[in-house]
Amino acid sequence: MEYRKLGKTNLDVSVICLGTMTWGEQNTFEEGYEQMDYAVDQGVNFFDTAELYPIPPKPDTQGKTEECIGNWFKKTGQREKIILASKVAGRAPMNWLRGEWTLLDRENIESAIDASLSRLQTDYIDVYQLHWPDRRMSMFGADGLGYKHYEAETIPILETLKVLSDLVKAGKIRYVGVSNETPWGVHEYIRLSETKSLPKIQTIQNPYSLLNRTYEIGLAEMSYRENIGLLAYSPLGFGVLTGKYLNDMPSKSRLGLFGEWFTRYSNQKCRNATSKYFAVAKKYNMSLCQMALAFVNTRPFVTSNIIGATTMAQLKENIKSIDTELTDEMMGKINLIHINNPNPAP
Ligand SMILES: NC(=O)c1ccc[n+]([C@@H]2O[C@H](COP(=O)([O-])OP(=O)(O)OC[C@H]3O[C@@H](n4cnc5c(N)ncnc54)[C@H](OP(=O)(O)O)[C@@H]3O)[C@@H](O)[C@H]2O)c1
Repeated sequence: MEYRKLGKTNLDVSVICLGTMTWGEQNTFEEGYEQMDYAVDQGVNFFDTAELYPIPPKPDTQGKTEECIGNWFKKTGQREKIILASKVAGRAPMNWLRGEWTLLDRENIESAIDASLSRLQTDYIDVYQLHWPDRRMSMFGADGLGYKHYEAETIPILETLKVLSDLVKAGKIRYVGVSNETPWGVHEYIRLSETKSLPKIQTIQNPYSLLNRTYEIGLAEMSYRENIGLLAYSPLGFGVLTGKYLNDMPSKSRLGLFGEWFTRYSNQKCRNATSKYFAVAKKYNMSLCQMALAFVNTRPFVTSNIIGATTMAQLKENIKSIDTELTDEMMGKINLIHINNPNPAP
């Protein structure tokens, strides 16, 4: 396993981060425990979760994933070995989680952290992330590549950051991260942390894969210059970048089971680009999955690649991507496909 520094902290995290959002829905707790055992055995020391998981979010399953991780900590006594990232939900009308809306205000965050700590059976979370912003904006690919501006009521970022600062002081969280953020949002967090002596964000968790390289447009430079590494999520575009949906719709798969929920990577442009990447992988005797994950692992602005798996075979293949190298010749071919088929799943 390879390790990289997390932002400006003294933490070294594995390049492969274990994603968890299927545990408690597509995967049982037992399967979650088995994934954690195997990943740790392979040198993975970084787990990513959220108060909202498992996905798809539902009132009767919410919190199950953190519960699964908490049970594993208790069972194995390995809490101290793991760098744990979790998230508080941003603004959404989820009246089944906390009040009518979840918001990034003091009341919501203080209630969210205590519930997460209790489910996780721990006293602290290493990286506490804001799952998505409080301000209204295009998210999860909703408006494609276009920018749509919304003027709407929002919790000021300063308020959110002050609450997080208090949580750091209380020892409940060590570091702060954002997710599904834009260059403006990242800049605003940095500006406020510098001018008001508040915690600096250390990570940004955004989508990044061969089907979505929008991070490179405005945020990759931020990662370099501000030392805020990317925690890349959905590196396989929900599994599309294994090629398994090219000719078939496997019934026991994310899109087979929850196709109506997960539409981001299902359009024709994604299919076209995927078949082109598939041909490159084949030419170099590599699986498309290996090539797609190695692409993310080797980008210099990436701190960690958050993989997801629903079977042990998938988990093994995905962790093994750490040993895959992409030659300059392969990268040339990959970049050419990208230029001609840019960001089909923004
Ligand atoms: N911050 C956010 O808003 C956000 C959003 C999404 C994800 N995340 C984080 O990122 C993690 C990973 O995201 P993701 O699950 O969307 O990642 P992904 O790599 O794009 O998709 C993973 C899914 O693809 C399929 N798959 C994985 N490896 C495979 C293989 N070797 N062969 C065939 N199919 C394979 C599996 O689904 P099936 O077996 O069901 O097909 C698996 O659940 C999550 O667990 C979560 O921690 C964060």
